[in-house]
Amino acid sequence: MATRYKALQEAEAGTIGSSYDYIIVGSGIAGLYAALLAREHGSVLVLTKGSIDDCNTRWAQGGIAAPIGAGDSAEKHLRDTIEAGAGLVDEEAARVLTSEAAARIEDLVRLGVPFDTSEGEIALEILTESPDPAHPSRRLPPHPEPIRGSSGRTGGGALAVRAVRALNAMTDEASEYSCRHLILATGGAGQMYRVSTNPAVATGDGIALAYRAGAEVTDMEFVQFHPTALRLPGVQPFLISEAVRGEGGVLRDVRGERFMPNYDERAELAPRDVVARAIVDRIEGTGADHVLLDVTHLDRGHVIARFPQIYRFCLDAGLDITREPIPVSPAAHYTMGGVRTNVWGETTLPGLYACGECACTGVHGANRLASNSLLETVVFAQRVVQRTVESPGGSAPLRAGAVALSEAVAAEAGVPTREAVQAMMWEDAGMVRDAGGLSRAKAILSAWDASLPAPTDRESQELTDLVLCSRLVAEAALLREESRGAHYRSDFPEARDEWRRHLVFRGGARN
Ligand code: SIN
Repeated sequence: MATRYKALQEAEAGTIGSSYDYIIVGSGIAGLYAALLAREHGSVLVLTKGSIDDCNTRWAQGGIAAPIGAGDSAEKHLRDTIEAGAGLVDEEAARVLTSEAAARIEDLVRLGVPFDTSEGEIALEILTESPDPAHPSRRLPPHPEPIRGSSGRTGGGALAVRAVRALNAMTDEASEYSCRHLILATGGAGQMYRVSTNPAVATGDGIALAYRAGAEVTDMEFVQFHPTALRLPGVQPFLISEAVRGEGGVLRDVRGERFMPNYDERAELAPRDVVARAIVDRIEGTGADHVLLDVTHLDRGHVIARFPQIYRFCLDAGLDITREPIPVSPAAHYTMGGVRTNVWGETTLPGLYACGECACTGVHGANRLASNSLLETVVFAQRVVQRTVESPGGSAPLRAGAVALSEAVAAEAGVPTREAVQAMMWEDAGMVRDAGGLSRAKAILSAWDASLPAPTDRESQELTDLVLCSRLVAEAALLREESRGAHYRSDFPEARDEWRRHLVFRGGARN
């Protein structure tokens, strides 16, 4: 541990150097796992905002998927992943994910990750009764601020990323650090939305940074909404796992009426996007801002033993879930799109890598299979580091895709704030979208994106990054005239074959 966080300690002590073999931006599981491996091959600097606990990894509840149970196989896991992704999963990447899963779990065990165990083996959760019945198994595992990439030209004329400019969060002073390999592991952009399971730091910084440096960003229209986040005044929208419905939790509207059987024959066990849209419909139908997830009919001891984290969190917020139903509503949960990479985590800019939620490796397609996100972080963090060692000058082959060029649109946009972005994205580019709302959002976000002054501190940087990511989501969602996976258009409610392709944005060096 002491060595692992050396760079962070050096940074705090003010003894940080200016040149490293690896600079890793982000300190969730993807960033720290990459750091742990990279330190075997050179000097490492981890840049992070705030504390290393302040990330989505800390809040992940659903476990890490890996096909290590009896009767399970990488091939079955691959099939589940492809099916969940609604026609847009990159099969090569998904095959890498599922075939390397067991080896990465072994690595984590070797590193001392305290998985739950049962009779000396990793405890496997079989989800045959869950809302995700196709998913065979899960396991429950257990200060400087990144700002802008700067690019330099290599001899061959291609842009290579070799440095990053960072703001010191305490002083707002900018410093430049150079490196041989820059790895983005900054997480997703859940803060684009008013209601989100993501912490306040999830502002899409890595995606925005890569885009501005000229890298390609793809699949931004696919934002996964979790159907059941806790909805209590003054309390963060804490994730109430889908496994609660798998255990027999029942959804009722605020009038007490069970509604899921009216929407889907699988009722509470329907896929998360179906349940999320049904909840939104009931919320609109009743005028309340939530529905109720009821487990009061289940055995009290079982609920507490099965969901200790949820029970404890709710109790601390004044709600005993074994006695009262849980107020819940959908919340933005996972950014499927991100910096476009190949199966080695290489982006379209030499020297720049991405892994974890900020990357789009192609494994999630249009809808992520639950618990594949943590797996993706360790599989591709490992591959990134392996690639820097085995093929340091490698370049990224491109998957076929359409390039959507963005134009700035003049609009009466008002003054951007994080709250204004979140409210607009929730209303106009949220779970149920149409051309009217998306056009409005695109126009306003484009105007904001074009007019925001250069950021000078963390707050303004985060806002700038959120505006850019939101603009890309709105543009892509407007272009994609169909419904597929997590992207639902009420004006195009069916999937269309001609849209079985990816939208790719190529950024430019505009700061
Ligand atoms: C859940 O347990 O409901 C969430 C897990 C995930 O999003 O992967």
